[in-house]
Amino acid sequence: MAKIVRLEPIAQETSVETNGNLLSVLLNKDLDVLKECGGRGMCATCHVYIKDGMNALSTINRREQRTLEVITSCKPNSRLACQARVLQNGVVVELPPGMYINSLQDIEELIGRRAEQDLLHPITGQVLVESGKLITRSTLKQLENTPSFQVGSFFSNSTDV
Ligand code: FES
Repeated sequence: MAKIVRLEPIAQETSVETNGNLLSVLLNKDLDVLKECGGRGMCATCHVYIKDGMNALSTINRREQRTLEVITSCKPNSRLACQARVLQNGVVVELPPGMYINSLQDIEELIGRRAEQDLLHPITGQVLVESGKLITRSTLKQLENTPSFQVGSFFSNSTDV
């Protein structure tokens, strides 16, 4: 049976097969995960925080523990996405900013594309561009002061015109 995992702060939910790892959840959402070690629990490029539902994940194994110990951003709720397997519903993952922030230059490339569905502000949920409307420079100005947003999802929700 599939389990639902929620990703914050991009406010997305996705399902994963029971016992599937969080890395597959992130990749499924087109997030920017380097996975340098190929999912062997050794590089920490898949590091995430668990906002809720730590008990719904598999327990931390020794390799994961060792890898987490050497990263400075490690907190009590840290996990390696490639090692954490989803056993129950209720997992809420907090993504480190590096996984979904891209440069303003990337955003520039969105200008002139058309939104396929309402594009929402990632933090406030306010509609920035209504479905079918063009993405303009002024729209994106509204995002400039936002510390985090997922350019990838803007891309997937827009088309070239
Ligand atoms: S992909 Fe390397 S630790 Fe997870």
